[in-house]
Amino acid sequence: MSLEKIANQMVESGKGILAADESNPTCKKKFDSINLESNALSRNQYRDMLFNAPELENYISGIILFDETFRQKDLSSNQLYPDFLSSKNILPGIKVDLGLTYMDSAKLEQQTRGLEDLYDRTSFYFSKGAKFSKWRSVFHITNDLPSDQCIKKNSEDLAEYALICQSIGLVPIVEPEVLMDGNHSIQKSYEVTSKVLNLVFESLSSKSINFEGMILKPNMVLSGYQCSSQSSIEQVAELTLQCLKNNVPSSVPGIAFLSGGQSEDLATRHLNLMNLSTNPWKLTFSYGRALQTSALNAWKGESRNIILGQKAFLNRAKANSLASQGLL
Ligand code: 13P
Repeated sequence: MSLEKIANQMVESGKGILAADESNPTCKKKFDSINLESNALSRNQYRDMLFNAPELENYISGIILFDETFRQKDLSSNQLYPDFLSSKNILPGIKVDLGLTYMDSAKLEQQTRGLEDLYDRTSFYFSKGAKFSKWRSVFHITNDLPSDQCIKKNSEDLAEYALICQSIGLVPIVEPEVLMDGNHSIQKSYEVTSKVLNLVFESLSSKSINFEGMILKPNMVLSGYQCSSQSSIEQVAELTLQCLKNNVPSSVPGIAFLSGGQSEDLATRHLNLMNLSTNPWKLTFSYGRALQTSALNAWKGESRNIILGQKAFLNRAKANSLASQGLL
C-alpha cells in the first residue's frame, strides 16, 4: 500500500487513532490508579479488552502499539496483534522513539532518543505488518523555554525519523507536543506552538518529506493547566485552527490531535467545534488518556468487567468519531 493511501486511511471520515503505546513505566502509573500490578500479562489483558471491543473498527482506523504489545498475541485467537488488528481492518502502528532524555545538566529540556538504530528497528516492524509509526518530541513552556536550541534539535530529529520511516514504507506520525503543564496563558501557548510547528515543517521540507504520506499529531492550543484564567472552548478551537492554518501545509492529509491531559469530555468538544468549519486537512483524534480513562476505571483489571470496560471505551470512541465530523 502506498504511503498516501495508508495516510488517507488513517484519517478516513469518522475515524481516528487509538494511542495505546504507553511505555511500561507509564502503564504502571495507569495501573497503580486502579491498584493493579503492571506485568506483561496484565498489560496484555488490558490491551486485549480494548482491541476486542465490538465494532471498534467503525470508529478507530489505527492503533499505535508499544514494542511489547506488538509482539504479544490476542488472547482468544492467539494471533499476533499486528495480524489480529489487520484482520479487523484496523491499521497496526508502532511507537518507534525510545522515550526522552535531558538535553542539559540542569535537566530543563528534553530530546527524544532512538535515532541510532531506527532503520533496523523500523525495518523489523514493517516486515511484521506495521503500517505507520510514531515519534514524540516534547517542549516545556516556562518564562524562558523552550529554547531555540531545543526546538531546532527536536525538529531535525523528527524530520530524520520521518525520512527513515518513509524510505521503508511506514507512514510517520510526527508528534511535536508542547506540554500544557504550567501557568502560562493561551497566548503563550499559541506563540510557542506556532514557533515549534513552523520549525518542524521547515525541517521536514529540508529533508524533502512527502507531506501527503505523513500525519501530524499536535497538541491543541490551551491555557496552561495551572493558569488562573482557563480559556473557553471557542477560544481553544479558534486559536488552534489559526495556529495550524498558519503553519501546516494543506498537502498534509490529516491532523490527529493528542489529548495531552484534557478531560475526556473537553478533548471531544474541542475537536467537534473545530470540525464545524471547513479545513484544508482532516482533523481527528489520536488520543491516549481521553479514550482510555473511563474504560480503565470500569475494567479495574477484572475479567468480569471486560464488557463494562469495552462499553466505556466505545462510548468515547463513538463520541470522538462524531466530533471528527462535527456531528456532536
Ligand atoms: P494523550 O492523548 O494521553 O496525550 O496521549 C497521546 C499520545 O500518544 C502521547 O504520545
